[in-house]
Amino acid sequence: MRYPSSFACAAAALMFSCQAINILMSNDDGFGSGNLRELYHMLTGAGHNVYIVAPAFQQSGQGGRVGFTTEANLTGPSQYGLIPAGAPSIGPDPVDDHIFYYNGTPAACVFVALDYVLPNYAGFKVPDLILSGPNYGTNLGPSVWSLSGTAGVAYSATARSIPAIALSGSNTAVPYLEVDGPGHDAYRVAAVSFRVVEAIIETTPPGHPIFPLGYGANVNIPPLSNNHTSVPIVQSRMTGGAEVDAAVPGKTPGTFTWANLSPRASGLNQCINGDCSLPGETEVVAAGKVALSLYTIDYTAPIGAKASSVMQRFAALAGWMEGKAGLERRDRRVHWRA
Ligand SMILES: *[C@@H]1O[C@H](CO)[C@@H](O)[C@H](O)[C@H]1NC(C)=O
Ligand SMILES: *[C@@H]1O[C@H](CO)[C@@H](O)[C@H](O)[C@H]1NC(C)=O
Repeated sequence: MRYPSSFACAAAALMFSCQAINILMSNDDGFGSGNLRELYHMLTGAGHNVYIVAPAFQQSGQGGRVGFTTEANLTGPSQYGLIPAGAPSIGPDPVDDHIFYYNGTPAACVFVALDYVLPNYAGFKVPDLILSGPNYGTNLGPSVWSLSGTAGVAYSATARSIPAIALSGSNTAVPYLEVDGPGHDAYRVAAVSFRVVEAIIETTPPGHPIFPLGYGANVNIPPLSNNHTSVPIVQSRMTGGAEVDAAVPGKTPGTFTWANLSPRASGLNQCINGDCSLPGETEVVAAGKVALSLYTIDYTAPIGAKASSVMQRFAALAGWMEGKAGLERRDRRVHWRA
């Protein structure tokens, strides 16, 4: 639950939000990520109560895969050598006990956080908000959404009934200890992320969830110059200009690598849900703006003529099924003939 914080409200008079909330952060780049730690410090600086549970190692491209280690201890040093080999597979950061590493996939980190770290080490069990990233590199369009570990954190959080935002920048990997102030790309990506996150927190009525149940947001940030504070934020949809992979033969026979399919796939870019007048998030970032898309956890096709016509063709099977569908035999015959 939200808790009142006089510190945050005092800070609000200066520049920050008056609503202090409980936040869980994770990512797929690893717990030593510069992007992750910069945003963490901005959020704690604004008075929020923030915990990080993030992978001990780089875990990009894992999507929503739930991979728990079977090893009690790390068999090699963690990312950037922050934790030595032989240390437990889960534990606190050496310099900050609100930050935990875990030797698992991004989605596994969410579940380990919710079912172990937060209940045992934080003053809350269910965060008000789960943030993923900011990632190194964008996560644009529905195809990347399914395979990105950054997205995997967000949709796993949504599945656990917790509002979530996936955040992705266009900068490259940097250990957090090498981020040297506001001129650094990791700082800029975090600052834009912070602006988006604070906006949604500030406009949430106290005691209400940050998003409706089953909803979340995907935020992608273009390359930033030193004018990052003025980069426009545009409402977008996931489809539209999005890329999907093609398999390209490698140099060695029998091997393949990937490339963006060309021309772009119309299947991936079919606008079915959401406001089809919005630009695609891929196009928005290509134009140098921040793309903000909402997602839902419900992949079911929306009701309408297209879904009905497909379902009617399956209606002949209804006789084999239990329940209501099986009772509508007369309808079934009519639909089958049509
Ligand atoms: C893991 O490390 C601890 C010491 O931190 C040690 O006591 C334990 O035996 C180790 N477990 C395994 C399976 O190697
Ligand atoms: C930001 O800077 C870039 C180049 O550094 C420039 O092209 C762009 O117009 C600037 N945007 C704003 C909103 O000032």
